[in-house]
Formats: sequence, structure tokens, C-alpha cells
Amino acid sequence: MFVSENLNVNEKGNLTIGGVDTVELAKEYGTPLYVMDEELIRKHCRSFKNSIDKFYGGKGLVCYASKSFCCLEMCRVMKDEGIGLDVVSIGELYTAVKAGADCENICFHGNNKTDEELEYAVDMKVGRIIVDNIFELERLDRISKEKGTVANIMFRIKPGIDAHTHDFVRTGQIDSKFGFALETGEAMEAVNKAISCKNIHLKGLHCHIGSQIFDIDPFVEAAKVMLKFIADIKKSTGFTVSELNLGGGFGIMYTENDDPVPYENYMEKVSAAVADTCSEYGIEQPFILIEPGRSMAGPAGITLYTCGGVKHIPGIRTYVSVDGGMTDNPRYALYQSKYDALVANKASQPKDSVVTIAGKCCESGDLIGEGMSIQEAAPGDIIAVCATGAYNYSMASNYNRVGKPAVVFVKDGGSKVVVKRETLDDIIRNDI
Ligand code: LLP
Repeated sequence: MFVSENLNVNEKGNLTIGGVDTVELAKEYGTPLYVMDEELIRKHCRSFKNSIDKFYGGKGLVCYASKSFCCLEMCRVMKDEGIGLDVVSIGELYTAVKAGADCENICFHGNNKTDEELEYAVDMKVGRIIVDNIFELERLDRISKEKGTVANIMFRIKPGIDAHTHDFVRTGQIDSKFGFALETGEAMEAVNKAISCKNIHLKGLHCHIGSQIFDIDPFVEAAKVMLKFIADIKKSTGFTVSELNLGGGFGIMYTENDDPVPYENYMEKVSAAVADTCSEYGIEQPFILIEPGRSMAGPAGITLYTCGGVKHIPGIRTYVSVDGGMTDNPRYALYQSKYDALVANKASQPKDSVVTIAGKCCESGDLIGEGMSIQEAAPGDIIAVCATGAYNYSMASNYNRVGKPAVVFVKDGGSKVVVKRETLDDIIRNDI
């Protein structure tokens, strides 16, 4: 009935998340409100971690892709669960540091890191800086030399795998702004250069083939391509690349049309392919890293809105207006992403109306979705949009000077604010 296992309906007919009444949450904290189920986040952490233990002898590390949802408390939960972090800016890295993350277990990404970012990463002794291009390698070598240290790096490689996903989030193609291509020889050139840099230690290779992927085969193919390159490096230089980071991208259920594979199956198949391929090439099995983001945070979250009005346009459509929109969830406007929604205070009633949920921005494209089946909505109702835990809060904006909603974690029947709602003073805090 629901897209996420943590959602249910209580005796009052209200939607619950992690056993907590969403209508009560809306009353207590106001709307719009992001609500995340901490237990489900922790469950995802454990299933990814256990799958590496079970199928790859524990020789790996799960790094949560914090771009999907990043705040101090989320980083603390990850630390508590023994999960590393993938960060992609100094802002995410700073959050991780302030949350007390172990920087050895951080992967620092980005296709155009600034000197400030590289210097901070070196100062914080980030375990793996994922170098995207040759200019960055040169800058990082200079920075670590100036600081009298050696930076541990991985190279971002384009394995050229088509993961059959939405064009906007496809990053493993040769026509991508991310990383080094194998075909052109630039990846091998970079490896040779890194080996000769005194202040660089090439730990491993990284690839990320896309996002919201349901098929395991492209991951297996990517792993094989990367291992062949590791074997080529060994053959041509004698150098052993000891780590392989296979990125994230595991799909989740947004609507009933989505059919994600259990995360376990991913590691099972990939581990088997890695073992076979390594023995075929006569190389050692590398330490493996994976970087799930959406699959960790997405299903754990929902967004609660208050319905302000309902406009029936005869023969055309019905707009249900909510007190948030593209400022807290830009994914329909950006990618036409589909969501499941319901009227939280009428959750046991049938979903017998088909509506467009519209936001409050001065922009016609400010929609949460079109053709959405929900219960008959009326002003004052609480509208819940499901599976918004990833790439919603982290992609929120202040367009129209709308403040960002609060984020609340629920756990053991209770709730707590982990990110405060932005106030009007927050809106003008940098204005002079
Ligand atoms: N690792 C790297 C290097 C990445 O670039 C990404 C996502 C991940 C891991 C995590 O991927 P995930 O497991 O979350 O699929 N804003 C888009 C998604 C962009 C993903 C960018 N990279 C969206 O809302 O769908």
C-alpha cells in the first residue's frame, strides 16, 4: 500500500511514519516539514554493511553519499553505524568534521574542487580525495608538498557504462564532465603521473555509473571494466591499485511502478564478479567502497504540507495547493520525478481523486507532481509526499525568499528537530 516500509495508518486513520502520527507532527512542528525515520536509515546502513561482510569478507567500506541528505545529525548517525562519508564540497566536508566524523573514512569528490577545498581536505587528512582531472592532480601535489604531507587519492574513471537511467543523472558516459576516460588513454597517463608524484599516493580508482538504477548488470560490468584497468596498470607499471570504489546509484521505490532490487543482491553479484575477474587477471582482490545516497536516505523521509486551497478547472485538472513546493522539492521541476502522495489525515480513505499538487512559488512549473492519485483534499488537510528523504532538503532553495523547512527525526515513538526551520531573519542574514 505504501512505497516505504516505515509508513502505516493508525486507528485515527492518520498516516504514521516509524509509528509516529504525521498529523500530530504537523501540528507540533508546523508545515512544510521534512520527517525522517532514523530507524530506517540505520536499517539501510546495516544492510549495506552486512552485505559487504557476508559476500566480500568485510573487505570494504560503505560511504554514505551525503549530497542526498546532509546535516550534523545525519553524519553522527553514520558515524555511529560505522559508515564513512562521500562529500562533494567544503560545506559537506565541514559538516562531517563538525559532526566528529572520522576523516580517514571520507571520500572527497567534485569535478572542480577549489584550492581552498583541497587545502582543507589535506589539513583534515581526508582518507581519499577523488581526483577528477590532471589539473587537480597537479594542484593537489603542490598543496600537499607545501604542507609537507602525502595526499591519498583515487582517480575518478569513466567506465563508459550505459546504466539506462535519466539523462540528467547519468554520469558514467564518455561525454561526462566527471573523470578520466579510459579509451583516450588519459586515465593511464594520469596514473603514470600520480605514481611519479612524491606527495601523492594513488590508493584506488573510482567510478559512478548513474543514479536510481534498478539493474545490477551495469554495476557488474563497471566493476569488470575497472578491474581490467587495474590489471593493465599492474602490467604496464608494476603498480598495485589496492582499492576500488564503485560509487552509488541504487534505485528506490518512489511509486508502485518502481521495483528496486534488495541491496544484498547487489553485493552478492558484484563480489562474485570481482572474485572471478581478479583470478582471471591474476590480481589481488581490491578493498571495495560503495557510496549509496538515495537508497540510504530516500525511503526514510516524507514531506508534510498543509493544503491551502483546491482549484477545480472543469475538464482540465484539479490543483491542490500546498505551503511548500519546488523550494523544498525541485525534483519534479528538474527531472519530472514521480512521487506517491496522500492526505495524511484521511489515510484510510480511498484515493479517488487525481490531482496536480502545486507549490506556492511564483512559477507555473512549481509542481510536486501531476496526475497524482490522492484522497479528496480540502483546505487544512495535511498532504504527505513519500520517499522524499534524498535530494529534497539537500536541493532546497530560498527562491521567492521562502524559508527552508525544519527536519525532524522520529525514533522509538518520539521525535526531535535536527534542522531548525529557517526564520525570516535567516532569510536576510547575509544582506547588508
Ligand atoms: N557517488 C557519487 C560519486 C555520486 O556522484 C553520487 C550521486 C552518489 C555516489 C550517490 O548516488 P545515489 O546512491 O544517491 O544514487 N540530484 C539527483 C541525483 C544526483 C546524483 C549525483 N550523484 C536526483 O535528485 O535524482
